[in-house]
Amino acid sequence: MARKKIIAGNWKMNMTPSEAVTLIETLKPLVQNDEVDVVFCVPSIDIIPAVEATKGTNIVIGAQNMHYEEKGAFTGETSARMLVDAGVKYVIIGHSERREYFAVTDQTVNKSVLKAFEHGLIPIVCCGESLMQREQGITIGWVCQQIKIAFQNVPADQAKKAIIAYEPIWAIGTGKVATAEQAQEVCQALRHCISEIYDDATAEAIRIQYGGSVSADNAAELFAEPDIDGGLVGGASLKPDFGRIVNYNK
Ligand code: 13P
Repeated sequence: MARKKIIAGNWKMNMTPSEAVTLIETLKPLVQNDEVDVVFCVPSIDIIPAVEATKGTNIVIGAQNMHYEEKGAFTGETSARMLVDAGVKYVIIGHSERREYFAVTDQTVNKSVLKAFEHGLIPIVCCGESLMQREQGITIGWVCQQIKIAFQNVPADQAKKAIIAYEPIWAIGTGKVATAEQAQEVCQALRHCISEIYDDATAEAIRIQYGGSVSADNAAELFAEPDIDGGLVGGASLKPDFGRIVNYNK
């Protein structure tokens, strides 16, 4: 069965709760496309108004981060149970910005993936290489290692439902998009890595997004690649342009 495309906006640290509702009202009519799953990953404080504002629409709300412990003395953190109770369905785990600034590691990514599944959340598991790693020619080995650790002890029936986001760090927020060929090469390698960890059926089912300077101008070319099942979009998800990205096939 063909994989359904999934296009997610990662709002990062943008939009106050009231701005979030205004943006959702603007984007609602623009992001209708039955052939695509549409997710808005909003800041924690925007989750509740965003869930309310998207009721009855095709937009599903995701979180950008989650703590791997069940509950307790973790000041400032958000648990899986809190996200589920608020109406969240997806959660980004291991974004490169969290790895760089907030001490997220492959090991804590794995703990968070396990905790997300335990509570029925779908993790969007991020991986990606730096410019130096790409220049050294170690990209594929690096991202496959990130994914192997992220999926440790995750059973195949859960892994099938996960989303992997391949986000080359050098392409994030830089306007320097990977070429469709570069993105396809890595997404194909990631699928191969999943088939080695699990089996071909799991690899065929799992959805792999590309992220890094996705725009209305390059989305169609990227999403036409056989192993790219959609995108994780930063800057362009905050603008009406996001409607054109979601409707890349129209
Ligand atoms: P940009 O689309 O702004 O490059 O951000 C990509 C990203 O980090 C999405 O998670």
